[in-house]
Amino acid sequence: MDYSPPIPLLIDTDAGVDDAGALMLALASPRGHPLAITTVHGNVPVRQATQNVSLVLDVMGREVPVYGGASRPLLGAPLDASDIMGPDGLGGVTAWMQPSMRQTRSSIAAVALVQWLTHQPEPIRTHLVSLGPLTNLALALALKPDLPRYVARLVIMGGTSEARGNASAVAEFNFFADPEAAARVLGAGFKEVWLLPWETSLRYPIAWAEFDALLQCKNPRTQFLRNITGYLRERLQRLGLPGIVLPDFLAMLVALYPECVQESIPVHASVETEGRLGRGLLAISWLPGGSDPNLYLVTRLDLQMGLEVLRDLLIGGN
Ligand code: RIB
Ligand code: CA
Repeated sequence: MDYSPPIPLLIDTDAGVDDAGALMLALASPRGHPLAITTVHGNVPVRQATQNVSLVLDVMGREVPVYGGASRPLLGAPLDASDIMGPDGLGGVTAWMQPSMRQTRSSIAAVALVQWLTHQPEPIRTHLVSLGPLTNLALALALKPDLPRYVARLVIMGGTSEARGNASAVAEFNFFADPEAAARVLGAGFKEVWLLPWETSLRYPIAWAEFDALLQCKNPRTQFLRNITGYLRERLQRLGLPGIVLPDFLAMLVALYPECVQESIPVHASVETEGRLGRGLLAISWLPGGSDPNLYLVTRLDLQMGLEVLRDLLIGGN
């Protein structure tokens, strides 16, 4: 029995396949109490991201307010990840699944984040989990610069630990999609930031056989997960990966089950916003006696513990 009190969560997402896995975890886990979900450009255009979140809520049978957010980064044009996640970010399932009829809220995501955070009871317990480009959060900070004091913990999927990029040679997708926003967020003075970088995600793929075993159980959640991961599976197998890589699912695990974290390193890191090759790079200072740490870099996880959590969540949908 898990007696930990549920963690109030605000989740900001660009609603690709791994975001959907993270949302399912947050919605099914007794540890999570999602207060609201905000959407942002990234894997797909923001309207599609909002539709995808609504679909996940339908599958999970949950009512959580959804707020649409930024359709583009602070500078430049939005990216997309349809090459790896499918045309709708969910492996193409929206072409044949019943579209969600949910209404989204009228407030804009950045405003909603400020409202939810500043209206919570003391002591401050809300965790903010960011699974896409950080545009909404940067806009929220522009509206309310002291916002960090209303966030108990900020968990970010983004950046790299060794400059091995997945969107450019040196930059990870979420940071590359809006480097200015990422730079503002890391420099904003949040009390506790946990950052799950791309390399840590790559270190913990769920082996294909193990993933198939998880999908054996027959229920709507498992069926949905099987359907949305098909496209990604094909792409990753073609690249020779030994299993499915789900960065945002791992980030949500860090948020809800911090005991899964086996190693985290306090470092000072900032984001490169200039440069022909370096834009979006997470520059980590490893110099002894350098600036004070501004985040915990998560480098090792107990994936087995994470898989047990995932198994429970899938079986719970029977
Ligand atoms: O680099 C991985 C991240 O980019 C994940 O958040 C994934 O959903 C994509 O947005
Ligand atoms: Ca994402």
